[in-house]
Amino acid sequence: MSVLNLGPELTVPLEEVVGQCVAILGIRGSGKSNTAGVIFEELLEAHYPLSLIDIDGEYFGLKEKYEVLVVGGGDHADVELSMATVGEVANLSLHEGVPVILDVSDMLGGEREAVVFDYLTRLWSLAGRLRTPYLIGIEECHEFIPQGVRTRLKDVIARIALRGRKRGLGAVVISQRSAKVEKDVLTQAGMLFLHRVVHEADMRVYGELLPWRKPEAKEIVSHLGIGECIFLSGTVARKVKVRLRTTFHGGYTPSFCPVESPKLRQVRGRLLEALARAQDAASRPPAEAPAPLALPPAPEWDRAPDAPSIVGSTDLPLPVLVRVDRLLRRLRRLPPVQQRVVGFLVREEPTAYTTDELAAWVDCPEALLRVEPPVAALDLGLVACERLARGITYRGMVRQYVDEAFRGFIPSLGPEGTRQLVAYLRRQIADLAPVERDLAYTP
Ligand SMILES: Nc1ncnc2c1ncn2[C@@H]1O[C@H](COP(=O)(O)OP(=O)(O)O)[C@@H](O)[C@H]1O
Ligand SMILES: [Mg+2]
Repeated sequence: MSVLNLGPELTVPLEEVVGQCVAILGIRGSGKSNTAGVIFEELLEAHYPLSLIDIDGEYFGLKEKYEVLVVGGGDHADVELSMATVGEVANLSLHEGVPVILDVSDMLGGEREAVVFDYLTRLWSLAGRLRTPYLIGIEECHEFIPQGVRTRLKDVIARIALRGRKRGLGAVVISQRSAKVEKDVLTQAGMLFLHRVVHEADMRVYGELLPWRKPEAKEIVSHLGIGECIFLSGTVARKVKVRLRTTFHGGYTPSFCPVESPKLRQVRGRLLEALARAQDAASRPPAEAPAPLALPPAPEWDRAPDAPSIVGSTDLPLPVLVRVDRLLRRLRRLPPVQQRVVGFLVREEPTAYTTDELAAWVDCPEALLRVEPPVAALDLGLVACERLARGITYRGMVRQYVDEAFRGFIPSLGPEGTRQLVAYLRRQIADLAPVERDLAYTP
């Protein structure tokens, strides 16, 4: 039976990790990422397939010793990632047992959420069929599974952490904000590595997790050194020291030449082919989508000061149009009411509307908007929510969205190109639900 050698006096039988939820907590610099890295090294040593959701691009160093495919952005990616190809990566990782680092370090909030959601959803459903041991590691998990907030991404992660065992799925969740992580996930975790914390709120969480009297727990936890933690498995807790990882810790420039094994190269070749096919299929214009370059004349209502003419949109470079297309695809997957709301707010930007005004304009019951606020558009940053004296209001934010999401393109677009992009995007989004637009404009 394989064991994971995590420290001088810390070995864990591999089978205890299968389908397990493992939590690694502690303040910044306490050694969490190192502990996680050591666990991943040991799992890779045992040829255990896994995916790491790497939001800081700090795990690529595992490639030094192990066959790991780094997918995504960042300087160390082997293969690029897009919404069109994310499913293929999950597919190959689970079917072929290829360890994957999903490097989302260069993605912004909305895009990152969408990619991670699609990836994990695919892994979840594939695992239901395959039922083989597989582990998913998630750094900064408080961003994905925050306490007290419900998102679709949180739902899928919580499902993996709490109910993955039957499918062979386990999770390693890592966070420096213990008090901000969904409590259910922490209390259900079968194995915890509790590094040092100092804040009272985090200490309270530890107090609830540890089988010790609270003053005693506080005394021990506050004196933990770097790399030391309380190892809690089942109901047994003890202080341990985790070894230092042997592969590079991200952030350092690697001074090695990664040696690619034939097996990984083979997978990489096939993965690249599969991704190219998926990308190709995605770049063909869908039947229902308006061709981005053949635009009808702008209607009266679209003649905002920064939208003088849409004809110039043909000047936008292809990579920009591809990214716009990707965003529109996402928006088209939203429920029709949500599309109407986003379209309306974007068209009316920067005017802010309360929920009841919005409901009247997009012709939907106010109660529905209260239950289903435009969360996806808020996450993407296309819409902002503010609490004003007259109540909660929403308004379009395309201008700011472009500044953020197209930041890399702005220097080459220049002020005129950026204005055209804003106008083009605004128009495309406003056109998402054209029938309702006419309805909304009926006085
Ligand atoms: N077990 C350990 N033994 C020795 N040094 C460690 C250990 N864990 C971490 N360190 C040191 O502390 C630094 C910060 O660790 P890291 O794992 O990045 O912390 P965190 O993820 O909690 O912010 C590392 O670069 C390393 O030098
Ligand atoms: Mg860290």
